[in-house]
Amino acid sequence: IDIPQFQNDLISWYQDNKRDLPWRKDQDPYKVWVSEIMLQQTKVDTVIPYFNQFIKKFPSVQDLAKAEEQDVLKSWEGLGYYSRARNLQNAIREVMASYEGTIPANSADLGALKGVGPYTKGAILSIAYNQPEPAVDGNVMRVLSRILKIDEDIAKPRTKKLFEEIVRELISRADPSSFNQGMMELGAIVCTPKNPMCMLCPVQRHCHAFAEGIENELPVKSKG
Ligand code: ADE
Repeated sequence: IDIPQFQNDLISWYQDNKRDLPWRKDQDPYKVWVSEIMLQQTKVDTVIPYFNQFIKKFPSVQDLAKAEEQDVLKSWEGLGYYSRARNLQNAIREVMASYEGTIPANSADLGALKGVGPYTKGAILSIAYNQPEPAVDGNVMRVLSRILKIDEDIAKPRTKKLFEEIVRELISRADPSSFNQGMMELGAIVCTPKNPMCMLCPVQRHCHAFAEGIENELPVKSKG
């Protein structure tokens, strides 16, 4: 795979085809954080109205930190997985207490916050702070397992680590934000779990699974 060409194909496509989503209006790390937490167990279409009302009610780190927990949970009602909301508010209060309200731009400090795992950390660092950090979720594992023809079981934690190392090599240093969001967008729109639309794929020429006609056999996933 020609990495510069791959980056260019992906990023150009993303910039021309990205959906107009409310958390893409700016690079505010707070909004990136809220959106990525909501998107972890919930579909984009469901998240949009929740995200909009949440940001309207709690527009900044300061607002969320000082809010009553019950108000925060009320805004989360219907999204489920309420520990996401509690952890988010705890972490935001920690950002006020330890960092004067500025969301950390480094891996160690971010990763120490409640509810901020490798995926959320990588999403904030890359999307908001333009750092070349991996943000690997199921979509990204699916896309990369096809392009690189990797048949490791994506249900295994070790496999996610493997993909994180691969993204560290592939990611654009010029535009990490568009690269990671392009990978997510490709997985959501083109490189779908069933019957991916390879004819519309901007990185078709790089894809080993497409070349062999095995896109529907990848990724490999145990159980479920
Ligand atoms: N899924 C997870 N993160 C996303 C994002 N930033 N945009 C769209 N879909 C996503």
